[in-house]
Amino acid sequence: MAIDLSVKIGNVTLKNPIMPASGTFGYGLEFAPFYNLSELGAIVTKSLSWQPKAGSLPPRIAEVEGGMINAIGLENVGIQHFLKELLPELKKYDTVVIVSIFGSSIEEFLNIIDVINTTGQVDIIELNISCPNVRKGGILFGTNPRFTYDLIKEIKKYATIPIMTKLTPNDCNIAEIAKAAEDAGSDALSLINTLLALSIDISKKKPRTGFGFGGLSGPCIKPVALRMVYYVANTVSIPVVGMGGISSMNDIIEFIIAGATAVQVGTQNFIDPLICSKLVKQLTQYFIDHSINSLEQLRNSLSPRPTLLKTGNQSE
Ligand SMILES: Cc1cc2nc3c(=O)[nH]c(=O)nc-3n(C[C@H](O)[C@H](O)[C@H](O)COP(=O)(O)O)c2cc1C
Repeated sequence: MAIDLSVKIGNVTLKNPIMPASGTFGYGLEFAPFYNLSELGAIVTKSLSWQPKAGSLPPRIAEVEGGMINAIGLENVGIQHFLKELLPELKKYDTVVIVSIFGSSIEEFLNIIDVINTTGQVDIIELNISCPNVRKGGILFGTNPRFTYDLIKEIKKYATIPIMTKLTPNDCNIAEIAKAAEDAGSDALSLINTLLALSIDISKKKPRTGFGFGGLSGPCIKPVALRMVYYVANTVSIPVVGMGGISSMNDIIEFIIAGATAVQVGTQNFIDPLICSKLVKQLTQYFIDHSINSLEQLRNSLSPRPTLLKTGNQSE
């Protein structure tokens, strides 16, 4: 039986729906000693800014039940260093290269787009909009539908490759932000980024990360992520890439049933560096075992379908 695991994001075809999540896979090359990166549907880089960034004070990670809190502070080598020194190595693999970017103003995003256009070697841009807009009082781009719309509308005037907007689950109605991103021309969405969290060292009455707060990720966030993916996938008609706590093949199936076109695997890469490679093989085997030949047979197949409510408690 011919199994087709391929998916499309904009005009780019991925051979399978599995890719690492930004920030949990370095710039890709760090994982090359463990397996052939060509097995992946795509590689997603750590988020890159115009200038290199040093990040937050340590400790940057706190383990919590069912996951971890990170406060890395978006440390990165800067887009120009990445494009010149690392991208040529990454291009040796037969996989799609997704570059995650962030900025503190629309101009900064546009500068990054400009150098990416010049290289002509990146396949897709993931826009990390969980970053403060310094021109608008430090409010995150991704918590305000207007800022989200304006940013993407401007970027779409210049970008020559598909744009996938990565949504934050914090301080917003995520479906409203998703709609704004789609209306502005985003080619796809990815979600969720980490959930704002706090862990306390009670002996010192002190936060357990240097920054104070941090972003929660790992298996404990999966049910929240699944609900948001279902909600967003049923609000927009562009592809949705789901993530949040994926650590097994069954988790991937859940996300596809909830409406995801593809998935990203984050925190689990720290526990098992081979996880993405294993999941590609396990997903293929699942399709063989269940006589499924395309992801379309599973996608958005939840039944009965929970009603989408804008606000309020949906469970009690
Ligand atoms: C250590 C760490 C660093 C991260 N860095 C980024 C980043 O640079 N850009 C980004 O968009 N998301 C970043 N994330 C969020 C992940 O890409 C992902 O959205 C989140 O961790 C949920 O997936 P998971 O539960 O599978 O880890 C980071 C997550 C972790 C744990």
